[in-house]
Amino acid sequence: MSEEKTAKIFIEGKEIELPVIVGSEGETAIDIRKLRTGYGYTTYDPGYGSTGSCQSSITFINGEKGILRYRGYPIEELAENASFEEVTYLTIYGELPNKKQLADFNAKLNSYDSIHEDMKKFFENFPLSAHPMAILSSLITALSTFNPTSDKIEDREEDILRLIAKVKTLSAYAYRKSQGLPFIYPRDELTYVQDFMSMMWRKSNSAKYEINPVLEKAINVLLILHLDHEQNCSASTVRMVGSSQGNVYTAVAAGVAALWGPLHGGANQKVLDMLKAIQDDGGDYQKYIDMAKDKSSGFRLMGFGHRVYKNFDPRATILKKAADGILKELNIQDPLLDIAKNLEKIALEDDFFVSRKLFPNVDFYSGIIYRALQIPEEMFTVMFTLGRVPGWLAQWRESREDPHFRIHRPRQIYTGPTERHFVAIDKR
Ligand code: SDX
Repeated sequence: MSEEKTAKIFIEGKEIELPVIVGSEGETAIDIRKLRTGYGYTTYDPGYGSTGSCQSSITFINGEKGILRYRGYPIEELAENASFEEVTYLTIYGELPNKKQLADFNAKLNSYDSIHEDMKKFFENFPLSAHPMAILSSLITALSTFNPTSDKIEDREEDILRLIAKVKTLSAYAYRKSQGLPFIYPRDELTYVQDFMSMMWRKSNSAKYEINPVLEKAINVLLILHLDHEQNCSASTVRMVGSSQGNVYTAVAAGVAALWGPLHGGANQKVLDMLKAIQDDGGDYQKYIDMAKDKSSGFRLMGFGHRVYKNFDPRATILKKAADGILKELNIQDPLLDIAKNLEKIALEDDFFVSRKLFPNVDFYSGIIYRALQIPEEMFTVMFTLGRVPGWLAQWRESREDPHFRIHRPRQIYTGPTERHFVAIDKR
C-alpha cells in the first residue's frame, strides 16, 4: 500500500515519528515495525483488537457498515450467484474463473478427494462419542504423514488443492463413523457440494442418491458465507503456525482446533443449546437476556456480538432470510426459529446489547438451517470448517509469499517478580 503521512507519539519527553500505511479502502494504520528496535517501546493490545498483523488482499470487512467482500465481490452477490468452487477459486487465485479454469480446477480437486485406505483405520480407534472436530484436526495432521510436503512454491499449490479436496471426504467420513455407517466414496461426476451430500447421506456405495436441490443450494450458500473472514482467530492461528514454516497440514489442523472454541466457530452448536434451553424454559427469553447481562453468570448470548461487526453481520442477514425459505421449501416448522427471532427482537430492544452494538452474527441462524438439513449438531462446526478451509489456505499462502514474511513472535509487558535469588529448600 502507498505509505503517506506520518504519526507522531510524544513519550518520556521524546517525539517519535512513525510512518502510516493506507489500505485500498482508505483504512489507515500506524506502522510500528521500528518502534521496539528503534525506540525501545512495545505496544499493548491483548486480543489484538487494534493490531493489524498483516496486509492482505483477500477479504475486506467494514464492521461499522456491515460490509463483507471476497477479493472485492460483495458477499451478497457471491452467495446469490456463485458456486462454492467458483468462490474457492476466487479466494485462492484472486479472480473469478472462466468455464475452462473452473472445469480444470474441479478436475484437480476430484483427483485429490480420495484418502489413503490406511487413513480409514484412524476412524476405528476414536470412541463413538469423539467430537468430529477432534477427529478432523487429528486426521488433517495425519494427512501430512501420507503426503510428505516440501516447502517449494510448486508443492504449495498441490497441498492447497489436496487439503480442500480431502477435507470434504474426511468431514463426511467423520459423520458416517459417528452414525455407524459405511464410508461412501467420492464421485467425480458430482460437484463439490453434491459429492459431500452423497458421501454424507447415500445409503451405500451401490445405492442411488437423489440430490435435493433445496439442500444443495442451502449448503452451497452456507459454505460460501463461511469461506473467509480476514484475520479471525482461526485464520490468525493458521498464519501463526505457518509462520514457523511448519507444513500446511499442521497449520490447517491448528485452525480447526481454534475454530472449535465456543467463542468462535463452536458458537453455532452452542446457539442451538441455548435456543433449546429457552424452549425447555417455556420461552422465558428474559431469563437468558438477564443472564447475558449479568457478568457474574458467565453466560453469553451465543450467536450475538462480534469483534469487528458493530452492525448486522451481513452473513446473519442472508442466513435469516435463507432459514425462512429453506424451512418453507422443506415444509418444516421449527419452533427454534421463532425462538431465535423473538430472542433477537428482545435483545435488540435492550440497551445492554444496543449500547455494546451486539448484533446476531453468522452463527446465530446457521444452526437452524443445519438442523433443517438433518445435519447433527456436533457436525455444525465441521460445516463451518468445510467452508473455511479455502480461506485459511488463501491466507496461509499469502503469508508465505508476503515480502514481510517472518515468524510471528509477539512481545509482552512483564509484571512478575523482579530479580531474586535461589534459597535452599531447608531455608524456605
Ligand atoms: C465467529 O472474528 C471473526 O471474524 C469470527 C467469525 C468468522 O467468520 O471467523 O465471524 C466467526 O467466531 C463469530 C462469533 C461467534 N461467537 C459467539 O457468538 C459467542 C458469543 N459472542 C461473544 O463471546 C463475543 O461477542 C465475541 C467473542 C464474538 C467477541 O468478543 P469481543 O470482541 O472480545 O467482545 P468483548 O468480550 O470485549 O465484549 C464487549 C462487551 C463486554 O461487556 P462490557 O465489558 O463492555 O460490559 O460486550 C459484552 C461483553 O461482556 N458481550 C456480550 C456478548 N458479546 C460481548 N454480552 C453478552 N452476550 C454476548 N454474546
